[in-house]
Amino acid sequence: MGFTEEIKRRKTFGIVSHPDAGKTTLTEKLLLFGGAIQTAGAVKSNKIKKSATSDFMEIERQRGISVATSVMGFEYKGKQINILDTPGHKDFQEDTFRTLTAVDSAIVVIDVANGVESQTEKLVEVCRMRKTPMIVFINKMDREGKESFDLLDEIEQKLGLTACPMSWPIGMGQRFKGVYDISEKKMVLFNPHGKRDENEDVVEITDLDDDRLEKLVGEEAAEELREETNMIEEVYPEFDLEAYANGDLNPVFFGSAINNFGVKELLDCFIKIAPTPKPRETEERVVVPTEEKFTGFVFKIHANMDPKHRDRIAFVRVCSGMFKRNTNYFHVRNAKKMKFSNPTTFMASKKEVVDSAYPGDIVGLYDSGNFKIGDTLTEGETLHFKGIPSFSPEMFRIVHNADPMKAKQLAKGLSQLMDEGVAQMFVKEFGGTKIIGTVGALQFEVIQYRLEHEYGAKVEYQPVNLHKACWVTYTDDEQFKDFEKRRKRDIATDKYGHTVFMAESAWQLRTVQENYPDLQFHFKDDF
Ligand code: G4P
Repeated sequence: MGFTEEIKRRKTFGIVSHPDAGKTTLTEKLLLFGGAIQTAGAVKSNKIKKSATSDFMEIERQRGISVATSVMGFEYKGKQINILDTPGHKDFQEDTFRTLTAVDSAIVVIDVANGVESQTEKLVEVCRMRKTPMIVFINKMDREGKESFDLLDEIEQKLGLTACPMSWPIGMGQRFKGVYDISEKKMVLFNPHGKRDENEDVVEITDLDDDRLEKLVGEEAAEELREETNMIEEVYPEFDLEAYANGDLNPVFFGSAINNFGVKELLDCFIKIAPTPKPRETEERVVVPTEEKFTGFVFKIHANMDPKHRDRIAFVRVCSGMFKRNTNYFHVRNAKKMKFSNPTTFMASKKEVVDSAYPGDIVGLYDSGNFKIGDTLTEGETLHFKGIPSFSPEMFRIVHNADPMKAKQLAKGLSQLMDEGVAQMFVKEFGGTKIIGTVGALQFEVIQYRLEHEYGAKVEYQPVNLHKACWVTYTDDEQFKDFEKRRKRDIATDKYGHTVFMAESAWQLRTVQENYPDLQFHFKDDF
């Protein structure tokens, strides 16, 4: 198969959801279809379990295991599908945001009973900002939940999406009979007593006035389906590939992942409509996947869980050209050549050394501390891929060195953990106080533990009253100088030396914004 054909058959996506909506279950069913795993439970066992939420060591251990499921590749009907795993735990949300920079599309899973939940809102917002095409899967139809039209309203109002129902449920919970596949004009019947993975019964019904409908689902449900599909036709837009590809239209499916119901319809539609690797913007120019020369960027770094080996795995998304093993590539930030002798890909839970990878693929590179999130690799050109932001943290602690003999180890440890994206460090201009900012409380414990076990350094935390850290840019020199002079104690720098305002309260931030209209306060660092 030629290079262009290889690119055209790749579909790289992520599944986003609020914890417990069914992301892991759906992932597993998709992998079963692709034959990437043989038994249900293979992915589930790698999931960070709810019971571990108060035990960060257990979470770290499971995060270590979950490296195996970071990227799951499988083939289905001639397509190469790469699922990028996103951690469900809210304290690792930043990992998820960054992983979403490496996908070409997303599937959003919503629990029929809970509707749109807070974490789904945040994650969908990130995808919407990037105009990532999204398909919605409403899960757990075998349970009682919200009315389908109400859910579509929530999807539109809370998530800001434009719903386009592709299938429509017939009843729910005990009365769940199946779904009508609107575009394919097929009735997919649900058989709750069938063997798992074998409970779909498909009947072609091209005309809903067909009186077989009554026989299949009963009079009441048949009538309801006719009425509801009429309403859908009137209210919701027809599917349009271009609108979906531009992020302006969102197909909606209904099903039950645990019963493997509606999953095949979702997957069959996905492989038809989901985008192949897209061109990507760099600060210098747009990179097109079919370009001959290799380019890629690091979107995630995972520490080795074995404290004796401090190496890490940097996950690189291939953006153009072919990545080849044992070939010299240019590490743009460090301006140096690097060669990788054992790049790995991940096929479900199997890790394998690869000789080559195509645009859309993810390769894991063993790294002893050369990479930072957002780094670019090329064949020599200086490029910087855009849109791999750090987000404004919301929890802060001052860090102190608790073992003065280990200052060097501490500095190295902190620097490497920050490169990995575990947290962000800000250094106050006045007094040089070091402040760590995170999006989740758990990270503080993770940092303390890893510094001690991997670097032999000890830190103590001191609470600090801060509301937000935001990056400052300005269009008026005089205003900035005045701001610097008056707010000296609240100004810090990030790892790149950018100016950051450490606001004590929302009120203080508002006041400063009002007093300095020519300063811009950013909540992401990719301004
Ligand atoms: P997550 O990755 O989004 O956090 O969710 P996960 O797949 O782990 O699913 C969360 C719970 O919801 C699991 O139950 C799972 O079995 C259940 N579930 C998933 N899909 C469906 C569905 O279509 N119908 C119903 N009724 N339940 C579903 P659990 O009790 O937390 O875990 P387990 O003991 O079943 O593993």
